[in-house]
Amino acid sequence: MNFTLPATSKLRAKAFTFGVATASFQIEGSSNADGRCESIWDRFCAIPGKVLNGDNGEPACDHYRRLEEDLDLIQSLGVDAYRFSIAWPRIEPSPGVWNEAGFVFYERLVDGLIARGIKPFATLYHWDLPQYLEDRGGWINRETAYRFARYADRVSARLGDRVASYATFNEPWCSAFLGYRVGIHAPGLKSDRLGFQAAHHLLLAHGLALPALRHNAPNAQHGIVLNVTPSFANSTNADDQWAAEFADEENTHTFLQPLLQGRYPTMVFDQHPDWAPTQLANDLAIMAAPIDFLGINYYTRSVVEKPDAGDYANVPQEGAKTDIGWAIYPTALTQLLVDLKARYDNLPPIFITENGAADNSQLIDGAVHDPMRTDYYQQHLNAVDQAIEAGVDIRGYFAWSLMDNFEWAEGYGQRFGIVHVDYQTQVRTLKTSGKSWQAFLAERQELSL
Ligand code: FCB
Repeated sequence: MNFTLPATSKLRAKAFTFGVATASFQIEGSSNADGRCESIWDRFCAIPGKVLNGDNGEPACDHYRRLEEDLDLIQSLGVDAYRFSIAWPRIEPSPGVWNEAGFVFYERLVDGLIARGIKPFATLYHWDLPQYLEDRGGWINRETAYRFARYADRVSARLGDRVASYATFNEPWCSAFLGYRVGIHAPGLKSDRLGFQAAHHLLLAHGLALPALRHNAPNAQHGIVLNVTPSFANSTNADDQWAAEFADEENTHTFLQPLLQGRYPTMVFDQHPDWAPTQLANDLAIMAAPIDFLGINYYTRSVVEKPDAGDYANVPQEGAKTDIGWAIYPTALTQLLVDLKARYDNLPPIFITENGAADNSQLIDGAVHDPMRTDYYQQHLNAVDQAIEAGVDIRGYFAWSLMDNFEWAEGYGQRFGIVHVDYQTQVRTLKTSGKSWQAFLAERQELSL
């Protein structure tokens, strides 16, 4: 099947950027190749009980060794762009040591994309911090932010404007809160105070990196990617309404408001003064340096209520869910985008940098029929279309993910790819959803945006 959209939909225009997305640790494998150092995810995976089935980054999709084949696969989809991340452990395997083999790998990737007519969208940090930095405190240590800026400088000096779009960070919420506050991601710490401190240093690192990125790649677009799961109140009761507002302030605006307005929202730190991060006078001004785009990763919404103790609690949702248990709720994406435009008058152009579904449909007779995922994409394309109709400036959409891969604490148990990967043989098989993407992308028109 093909995706359907109104004949005049801006999503059908060639000027709209469609792509597929991946991340280094989730696909590359070859953890010890060519001088790569240990990352916090290698260390975390080795701790029993942290990752489902004791899975780790080996061999993942063996992408490091199958680069050319995977580039051809991406090209066969007909996408405009490919969003990937660069592994800091390959580039700077020990402090101040810049690894030529690491640069060469990403240079081959970028040049291979360009040769195939595909725009490279690079993310500089998708969670694989060098372990030697974690040994010095990781994102709790302010020094890591300065080190990130140096790393961003080196990478962009080498790749320059060949990369069309640089995102400093993917989902700092996950790095900070899942990594240092809830502890279900690397490095596995559990402290509210440390979670907010890590968030502060991640946003600071973003701001510190921007001048070098702009200097080294003046014609590229520079921005950051946030994950947003909007919260809805379980009832019209004032307490539940307060809980939903608090959850959005904590999880979305604690990240977005410093970036766009140079200040933290007051609600969270009024309620919990002890969570406020230690900061220096200029930090917020550094974070708020102008960006060219904001990436939004959207998968689901949450429904919350006010518990007796605590600020908010998630309530189980009715209705359709993907195989990872996330509610399918596309209208929340439209509403989120419209709400962001209403709240931030300087909201930059938006790219939907991730959207997709875990659908673990099996490979049967050489084919994977995944109607739930296909339908998920159709519904969310409609949601993006409606947000554009409502006046939100959205420039692109990336499907997560190009292929099944290592899904963090879920190991290889959840499959998000539009391409199936057999982890034993490394055979790639385009799923039904991938064929829908191919058909849709082939059919676009020269509409003007
Ligand atoms: C996002 C991550 C991405 C992938 C998807 C399912 O939070 O950015 O790496 O794991 O979720």
